[in-house]
Amino acid sequence: MTMKLWGGRFTKEENELVHDFNESLSFDRRLYRQDIRGSLAHVTMLARQGIVSEEDKEAIIRGLKGILQDLDEGKLEFTKEYEDIHSFVEATLIRRIGEAGKRLHTGRSRNDQVALDMKLYCRDEINELHRLVKELLKQLLTIMEDNLDTYMPGFTHLQKAQPVTLAHHMGAYFEMFYRDCQRLQDVRERLNYCPLGSGALAGTTYALDREYTAEILGFTGPALNSMDAVSDRDYVIELLSALSIIAMHLSRFSEEIIIWNSNEYQFVELDDAYSTGSSIMPQKKNPDIAELVRGKTGRVYGALMSILTVMKGLPLAYDKDMQEDKELTFDAIDTVKGCLSLFTGMLSTMKFRKDIMEASARKGFTNATDAADYLVNHGVPFRDAHGIVGQLVLYCIERNMALDDMSLEEFQAVSPVFQEDIYEAVSMKTCVEKRVTAGAPGQEAMRKVIDRCRGRLKELKETERAE
Ligand code: ARG
Repeated sequence: MTMKLWGGRFTKEENELVHDFNESLSFDRRLYRQDIRGSLAHVTMLARQGIVSEEDKEAIIRGLKGILQDLDEGKLEFTKEYEDIHSFVEATLIRRIGEAGKRLHTGRSRNDQVALDMKLYCRDEINELHRLVKELLKQLLTIMEDNLDTYMPGFTHLQKAQPVTLAHHMGAYFEMFYRDCQRLQDVRERLNYCPLGSGALAGTTYALDREYTAEILGFTGPALNSMDAVSDRDYVIELLSALSIIAMHLSRFSEEIIIWNSNEYQFVELDDAYSTGSSIMPQKKNPDIAELVRGKTGRVYGALMSILTVMKGLPLAYDKDMQEDKELTFDAIDTVKGCLSLFTGMLSTMKFRKDIMEASARKGFTNATDAADYLVNHGVPFRDAHGIVGQLVLYCIERNMALDDMSLEEFQAVSPVFQEDIYEAVSMKTCVEKRVTAGAPGQEAMRKVIDRCRGRLKELKETERAE
């Protein structure tokens, strides 16, 4: 009796629980544009193959376009009773245009439909990500062009090592983000095969023209194995892996900015818009945005680990587990897009304290190797030269001065080999400008690299236009 009392209610609630657990409309609604784009291509092909009539095709296309417009304008609401975006769009179409709407799903399954939607979505987002990384590259190039003679310490082990320039340091990040652009292009190229027409897993009995739908949708061609096509999420994994690498690069860069912005360094000054004060300590200006970009790396890596884990035990072909690809992919894409735009903004408004950077390089004995080289060039064996400069460094540290703050007498007290031209030999300018091997910080070498970088940016643009 008691059982029966809440038994009916339990069944009802359980059904609701099952629906809520199973549904994806709450998040895959963001695929509506891709879903409709896919359906438009599918029905166009169905009509050309004589599988649906021209008249039905026209009605379906009109219906789909109306749904698209109403969703864009917020005039149509996603109602909870539908399981996913595919059933929502189809049901809405049938409600609006009647019988003809029921012919849209001919020769199609939600399995190839969702695979298509997700591919189209990833491709669209890759284009946007590519654009955002390019914006960052442009900003880096501007800083490089402006700072060929901004001397600063180069570090190893976060210890001042040898002098470099800000152009050179930024150039290192240019390389990283350039590779990121290439990686995104690679992912786009490899994913660009159309799953539509694979049906549930084994193709269909209708005479579909898969080449044609692939072409309409801008794919290189149809995917060649229908079981693979409905269950392949490699491109999601590749994209998340490319995003993880971008996040890692942004995080390293953020870390440097956080260090450079600290009281101890003061190499940079963040714009007020990209920093916040403390509610209790009036002297503080915190690099919150850089810290958040660094912190958000965690969720992007997390998304990659999640999808790898979701996919690892799945038997062919489609399994519902794959629905789990969406939220984490959306989140990782949103996160990286946000990080990229904010980072570029932060970089373009940040001030570099060139005087402090150069002074830091001088005070850090980054020219000690060059002082030893000076002695070697004047006949002193390297091992002795190393010892002599070591003594000089100790002398300077005790007096809190830089090598070139010493008088010639002080130099000569340690080694008579030193002459007036030692000042020129250990100036930051000389130390950097002598480094002219390809890829080194010397202006001559750096200018060549900058020219190449300009060319590479242009090539990236051209690739995009060629699509
Ligand atoms: N919402 C599903 C997903 O994202 C769509 C495919 C459903 N297919 C199925 N046979 N239940 O994976």
